[in-house]
Amino acid sequence: MFSMKIRWVKFADSFAELREKLGERTTLLMPVNGQSLLLVQDLGKFYLVQNKCPHQGAKLEGAHCEDGHLVCPWHRYGFDLKTGRGAGLYLENYPIEERADGIYAGFEYFSLF
Ligand code: FES
Repeated sequence: MFSMKIRWVKFADSFAELREKLGERTTLLMPVNGQSLLLVQDLGKFYLVQNKCPHQGAKLEGAHCEDGHLVCPWHRYGFDLKTGRGAGLYLENYPIEERADGIYAGFEYFSLF
C-alpha cells in the first residue's frame, strides 16, 4: 500500500537569516534539496515555490506579490502563495516549518510503508 509522506530538509538556521539574505527583495533563489527553489517573502511570511511559472515556464525570480499571490513577470498571472493555485494552474510549493535547530522545507514522496 502506497502512502504519501513528507521528507523535511533543513535549508536555513533561522528566519532572521532568511530576512538578512533577502534584504529588500521579495524573491531569492535558494539551493534546497538539490533544487534551485524560489524563496518568497510577503508581509513578513516566507514561502518556498518552484522557480518556473506553470503557464509558459518563465522564471519567477523577480516576481512581485499582490494580495497573497505571486505575480509572474511575463503575463502577470497570479498564484496563491498558500495553495499554489491560480488561473486554473498550479505552482508547486513546499511547506516551511520552523524547528528548534532551524528552518525546514517539506517534500512529498510516495512510500510503500
Ligand atoms: S509565463 Fe508566467 S504568466 Fe505566462
